[in-house]
Amino acid sequence: MADLSKATFYVDEEVGQDSTDAADGSQAKPFKTVSFAYLQHEDQAQYVTKIKNKDSGEGEWKRAVKTALKKAANYVRQQKKKAGKEQELVVRLKKETEERDKALEEAKKILIKEDESLPKAQRIRLGETMTLGSGERTKEVNYSSPDRGTRVQVFGRVHRERKQAQVLFVTLCDGGGYLQCVLTGQLTKTFDALTLTRESSIMLKGEMWEVPLNAHASDNRELHVDYFEVIGKAPGGDDAITYKVQAKGDPQTLLDQRHLVLRGETAAAVMFVQDAVEHAFNVKYHELGYVKVSPPALVQTQVEGGSTLFDVPYYAEKAYLTQSSQLYLETAIPFAGNVYCIEKSFRAEKSLTRRHLSEYTHIEAELDFITFDDLLNHLEDMICSVLSITLSIPRIAAKIQDLNKDFQMPERPFTPMRYSEAIDWLREHGIGKEEGEPYTFGDNIAEAAERKLTDIIDRPIFLTHFPHEIKSFYMPKEKADPRVTESMDCLMPSVGEIMGGSMRIDNYEELMDAYKRHEMPPEPYYWYTDQRRYGTSPYGGYGFGLERFLAWLCKQHSVRDTCLYPRYMGRCRP
Ligand code: 4AD
Repeated sequence: MADLSKATFYVDEEVGQDSTDAADGSQAKPFKTVSFAYLQHEDQAQYVTKIKNKDSGEGEWKRAVKTALKKAANYVRQQKKKAGKEQELVVRLKKETEERDKALEEAKKILIKEDESLPKAQRIRLGETMTLGSGERTKEVNYSSPDRGTRVQVFGRVHRERKQAQVLFVTLCDGGGYLQCVLTGQLTKTFDALTLTRESSIMLKGEMWEVPLNAHASDNRELHVDYFEVIGKAPGGDDAITYKVQAKGDPQTLLDQRHLVLRGETAAAVMFVQDAVEHAFNVKYHELGYVKVSPPALVQTQVEGGSTLFDVPYYAEKAYLTQSSQLYLETAIPFAGNVYCIEKSFRAEKSLTRRHLSEYTHIEAELDFITFDDLLNHLEDMICSVLSITLSIPRIAAKIQDLNKDFQMPERPFTPMRYSEAIDWLREHGIGKEEGEPYTFGDNIAEAAERKLTDIIDRPIFLTHFPHEIKSFYMPKEKADPRVTESMDCLMPSVGEIMGGSMRIDNYEELMDAYKRHEMPPEPYYWYTDQRRYGTSPYGGYGFGLERFLAWLCKQHSVRDTCLYPRYMGRCRP
């Protein structure tokens, strides 16, 4: 029965709206659900809903049934409970914020001063490890022990921080290493300590001690801080580095934040290995008496085919960014003998693969008066020597171990395989071209097939004697089989080709023929051709892609993870 003392509200599931802006519960502007209508007026009103008449199909207003009202009452109870909890949370957060603000205000009053009576602190870089405390390892850290360690001053950035009840642990980083710093007492109560954020730059003074037994810290030492100053505070909250750079973050976002990613241990470790590998190449080349030269990056000739050239406007002329320093390097042979360079090469690669960059570090060398076998022997020795020199640096060996725990020195001799044998191998193993057809002599072996070959053989491979049609103009034909060239690639498991090289055409007529076959006008190459006229010699050379070498050594999925700032199709920032 209708209760005339109560207002009536209308609900129409079809045209009604659960919004107090769009509806008011009148017949003209009904609500959409009984629950929403009930939420507005609860049991102080009566509710009617529109029901379709089965026979006429017309809508009729009928009083809401009991179950619908019960459901609505339940819904309202839940909403109230939820609102109550939210309110509680707001109150609690407000209280916490007020307490924190108050604590921070109080903390601002705590001023720490350096104790002038302490011994003068000696400034060290974190790579220096000789300033350990003199004390024996003790079971517990005895902060008041008279057996003091050397007092030192360190500068760096907060790599990590961990707060315990009475102690603040700060892992400091200055590029030379990491150092655990222990702050106690008043030091932990200051405003700067309470608001310390990762990547803030900081100066600390204190005594260097061995870590207590059973405790772990970098280099087995920790700094017992007696004074510190924050130099540059890094942001917290939504701008905190931990928020902006997340381990499993979107790769494109991480590349935008590369400048911050580089502060992470993995990215930084790869950069340290890169430095060590480049150093090792320099050491080995100098041991062998090679001379380093620096060929130009702006050129007007191609080396590796026109399709990957970057054009550059050059005053009134056109120039390119060099694809390889090889041709210029070759011209240094007559005055320097064996030569090498470590320069950038540029390739306008139109594909996005995990081993192609638009700009990469190219380690190239040219060896004079040699045979093809000499070149192969030199290369194997070079790779193994560079690895030995790199791994002889304990800090770098530790980083490689962290990055690539299964790394082992490659077994010698490397597996030699002629191109024709590789084609047979691919056919025998049912590895075909992208379209599924089997490989035949003369085909370029695609990246995927090459990777399968290296992964299955699982050893370094010297793939040699490629057909001249698929190789560069400067490669000489093999005397025994003129279909192929004296050329080779070095393939490593999981990455594939890390190096490409060959003997060079040393005969003037043959070189002129090669220009013609490759439809290259000889005039711009006059300076290169002159090498064949002014005292030619049998010689050869090669180029390593440093990023691919590192991807293999540091077990990185993509060469992009081995560059400071990778450049590849579609990305030239930051
Ligand atoms: O095989 P490539 O194209 O050979 C040359 O450039 C010769 N001129 C080198 C020489 O004989 N001096 O390139 C040599 C190496 C490759 O094996 C690969 O490691 C690397 O350079 N490389 C690249 N690395 C990253 N991104 C790219 N787009 C690369 N292209 C070649």
